[in-house]
Amino acid sequence: MANIFPRWSNLLPFQIAFCLGAVGAGVVLAFGYYATPKAQVVGYQPSQPIPFSHNIHVDQLGLDCRYCHSFVDVSGHSNVPSGNTCWNCHQHVQKESPKLAPLHRSMDKQYPGYDGKPIEWVRVHKAPDYVYFDHSAHVNRGISCQSCHGDVNKMEVVYQAEPHSMGWCLECHRAPENHLRPLEEVFNFNYGDGDVSKYSTEKGVTTTLDLGKKLKEKFSVHPKASCATCHH
Ligand code: HEC
Ligand code: HEC
Ligand code: HEC
Ligand code: HEC
Ligand code: HEC
Repeated sequence: MANIFPRWSNLLPFQIAFCLGAVGAGVVLAFGYYATPKAQVVGYQPSQPIPFSHNIHVDQLGLDCRYCHSFVDVSGHSNVPSGNTCWNCHQHVQKESPKLAPLHRSMDKQYPGYDGKPIEWVRVHKAPDYVYFDHSAHVNRGISCQSCHGDVNKMEVVYQAEPHSMGWCLECHRAPENHLRPLEEVFNFNYGDGDVSKYSTEKGVTTTLDLGKKLKEKFSVHPKASCATCHH
């Protein structure tokens, strides 16, 4: 095809893309400001098809988060368990509980209303599509679920405990020492109450913050704050 545009116009698509990007960001900003969806708000606590209690299953029965959220330390996405995970136990315990009717409908072929469909949990935390987030990148570097989801181990019904806004992400990216833990403490929801001196023989390491600073240095943890880190 004949080159009907002068050479400089090769840059045009980039200039257009840049302008559209700027407009897009403006629209997104406005949207973020005026129409923040309910799911982004601290305290958001939808009711669930089964009144599943983390307090019973984690604090009282002692189950590890990874028993159910089995991908959280190996993948970007943290899964919610399928009915099979519940059925492992509930085909034997609390069989007559009316609260478990939806589980029987999904898993129990003998149940009169059996339909085999997955349980439709209502999602609580949802980052906008234009945000890139990765669970394992945090969990495997010493950031606990507790820093981002609050005291889930005590929740009867899960709610959003932290804002999950851009400012909130950046606050930790700029000072991760406030949250860093030894890897073996990432799933321990009583970490803050414990004695941290066992993790360091050095003098002056007595608080979780002292230890956080040491861990940051030792494992050179440097979360990035550039736009492309979270907006691909
Ligand atoms: C016995 C299985 C089980 C265990 C153990 C468990 N969870 Fe859950 N979790 C669920 C189920 C089912 C849901 C979805 C229903 C709900 O929100 O209550 C859920 C939901 C969540 C959510 C909200 C997901 C969303 O929609 O945004 C978070 C956060 C969470 N769990 C964190 C944890 C943490 C942290 C631990 C360990 C302290 C843990 N869970 C242990 C089964 C479990
Ligand atoms: C490791 C075994 C185990 C697993 C896995 C498990 N549960 Fe349970 N669940 C129990 C036990 C034991 C109790 C009874 C606790 C009590 O009464 O103190 C219970 C209690 C409950 C109750 C309260 C029942 C009532 O009538 O009070 C509900 C609802 C429930 N579980 C739902 C679930 C769901 C949904 C899942 C899957 C996401 C699940 N459980 C996974 C062992 C388990
Ligand atoms: C650095 C902060 C951070 C940490 C640490 C963290 N989460 Fe999350 N979690 C989030 C964000 C942000 C979302 C929303 C992600 C999205 O929409 O893609 C989320 C979503 C979830 C969901 C819902 C996923 C879905 O598709 O329904 C579950 C379940 C969950 N987290 C469990 C956990 C567990 C369990 C841990 C600890 C092992 C953990 N998270 C650690 C920030 C975090
Ligand atoms: C409580 C602290 C904390 C919070 C909150 C937090 N981060 Fe991070 N983030 C980290 C640390 C620590 C790393 C790992 C840095 C390293 O490996 O040097 C990290 C790494 C990342 C990475 C790089 C992952 C990779 O693949 O290399 C992304 C992307 C990211 N965070 C996005 C987010 C987003 C989006 C949010 C908010 C929804 C968020 N983070 C909130 C501490 C945090
Ligand atoms: C550590 C992760 C992270 C980094 C780095 C980051 N952002 Fe964000 N950004 C987010 C998250 C999370 C949201 C969604 C906030 C919400 O849903 O309330 C967001 C939202 C936005 C929005 C939508 C408006 C708003 O505030 O809700 C714009 C525009 C934006 N970011 C631009 C940028 C630019 C420009 C940079 C670089 C200077 C940047 N971001 C760096 C995580 C990040």
